[in-house]
Amino acid sequence: MIVCVGAGPGHLDYLTQKGARLIAEADVVAGFGAVVDVVRPLISGSAQIITMGYKDQVARLAEVAQLHHADKNCVVVFMGDIHFSGFQFLERVETACGQRVEAVPGISSAQILASKERVCFDETTFFTFHRRGDLGPFKAHLREVLAAGRGAIIIPRPWDFMPRDIAAYLLASGANPAHRVAVWENLTRAEADWQGSLTELETRDFSDMSIMLVRPLTPLPTGLEGEA
Ligand SMILES: C[S@@+](CC[C@H](N)C(=O)[O-])C[C@H]1O[C@@H](n2cnc3c(N)ncnc32)[C@H](O)[C@@H]1O
Repeated sequence: MIVCVGAGPGHLDYLTQKGARLIAEADVVAGFGAVVDVVRPLISGSAQIITMGYKDQVARLAEVAQLHHADKNCVVVFMGDIHFSGFQFLERVETACGQRVEAVPGISSAQILASKERVCFDETTFFTFHRRGDLGPFKAHLREVLAAGRGAIIIPRPWDFMPRDIAAYLLASGANPAHRVAVWENLTRAEADWQGSLTELETRDFSDMSIMLVRPLTPLPTGLEGEA
């Protein structure tokens, strides 16, 4: 069998008990190197480990598929949650093994950001630019969401659409420069967080492991004040 498991964004503290059990019982654990490194303490000494990167993922997943067809228990680990910016990798796993696989959710960096910044997901839209292909429709949607008074949690695209590029794009397309913005780097290890305006963000650099929040100009009332 092959099970895909959300492994928490960069720290074992955010792995579910079900995910931990599946990893500990697996004959084969596969995934991107940085994600496998997070769960390595849980992997059995007798298990085979298959790490991959962007360039060799298709070939490595074909090896995993072969082991699955040889009746090995295979787990493919995903950063954070599979359903937040993980679908393209999930599709590659399913293409490799030729069938739909079980997907065990994890905790996304987007959810951890929401907790740290006290953001209500009901009033916020999640975007990922961490995808191949044309970003045009997603960029247009981001503009519409902010114009409609909602906030946005955004995963940037490391190779060409980082937080400073997102700020520049929004400002060039008429967004209000006063939007408050937060960027967190390696947020499960509390490495760094930055707060400022869209204008200030245009001059800042962050690592690939960054996630960004754009707050609405006028926050919607939360109702928290009225709660006991
Ligand atoms: C392909 S996306 C996968 C997101 C993942 N599925 C999730 O639920 O968090 C990878 C990107 O997520 C963001 N990310 C993941 N973990 C993070 C963390 N611990 N701190 C900040 N950003 C993170 C970074 O932008 C990273 O480049």
